[in-house]
Amino acid sequence: MRVVILGAGGLGSVLGGYLASTGVEVTLVGRPAHVAAIRRDGLRIVGRRGDMRITDNLRAVDRAAAATGSFDYFILGVKGKDTAQALEDAAPLRDAVATALSVQNTVEKDAKLVQWLGRDRVIGASTIEGGTLVQPGLVRNALSTKVTAYFGELDGSTSSRVEAITAAFDTAGLPAEAVDCIEQVEWEKLAQIALAAAWSVTTLGAVPGTSVFEGMEVPEGAAYFVALAKDLLRVYRAKGYEPMNFYAPLSRLKELDALPGPEAIEFIIEQGRTMRERESSGHPSMYEDVLRRRKTEVDFMLAPFLEAADELAIEVPTLRIAYNIIKTVDRFLG
Ligand SMILES: NC(=O)c1ccc[n+]([C@@H]2O[C@H](COP(=O)([O-])OP(=O)(O)OC[C@H]3O[C@@H](n4cnc5c(N)ncnc54)[C@H](OP(=O)(O)O)[C@@H]3O)[C@@H](O)[C@H]2O)c1
Repeated sequence: MRVVILGAGGLGSVLGGYLASTGVEVTLVGRPAHVAAIRRDGLRIVGRRGDMRITDNLRAVDRAAAATGSFDYFILGVKGKDTAQALEDAAPLRDAVATALSVQNTVEKDAKLVQWLGRDRVIGASTIEGGTLVQPGLVRNALSTKVTAYFGELDGSTSSRVEAITAAFDTAGLPAEAVDCIEQVEWEKLAQIALAAAWSVTTLGAVPGTSVFEGMEVPEGAAYFVALAKDLLRVYRAKGYEPMNFYAPLSRLKELDALPGPEAIEFIIEQGRTMRERESSGHPSMYEDVLRRRKTEVDFMLAPFLEAADELAIEVPTLRIAYNIIKTVDRFLG
């Protein structure tokens, strides 16, 4: 199998590195400093699997046009704001790619790929695997779950190409499932990450170094977390979806949906305590963006829920305030 990953930052490098380590021929398209470091020393991944250096089956180039040969899969891993430019730069790859998919945290990503390559050559995808670019040539992988990636056809079916990429992820130690509801998975993942991201940026932004789980133990922090979750879930349900906890045990949307307010708050406090005692760590990538003073993906993660709320005439007061706060912070980043 040959795979090209456009946007070799935190997530793209982690996925590409693990796939290459199990024999997939991977080409990473990234920024010049990262590419130069990988060419010189290989790709180093630290974190949940210890310290690995990947050199075999891995090529790195700093322009999509420099990726040569044909590819079974094209994986888009740039931030939402960079999609248009990245796909324009990657025009020379169009004829070389059989199937495209995106691991971005957005819901408009599949439509963007369909515009770029045509509906028949795009499948849906979602992942929660964690990746942070620490320095050129070095990425950290601190987060994974029981099932860390989902793939499916956009028409709500599965297929041999969906099964093949699912099997490649599985073999690479990235537990994956082929599903017949990828659109739902993408929306639920967005609800989960929008919740964690919005909450972290608007609370921990003032106290860098504090973990998400410590914050969840504060009763007021837990109450705010629940209010945000209920807003997101109201929209998600109104779109016709039932919470499934695709990314259990990290996802607790089912419980947050089912429990009345006060019990949900107790549940979140307990969750925070349990995760802190397990010394779990990790921050949503939007929070990392704020810490690094980079533009956030607020318009890709939160705005879709606000737009859907407007269309469906649903009140989402807490989500709207969180969005306004992050938009204000965002103005001064990047
Ligand atoms: N990181 C995670 O744990 C995680 C998990 C699940 C989903 N996601 C989603 O995956 C996407 C990527 O996240 P990330 O955290 O991996 O972001 P990231 O670390 O910023 O990686 C994206 C990389 O692509 C580079 N890039 C942008 N445009 C490019 C182009 N035209 N050609 C080559 N390289 C280009 C960026 O360089 P510059 O920084 O110089 O622009 C950056 O190095 C986001 O939508 C995110 O929400 C992330």
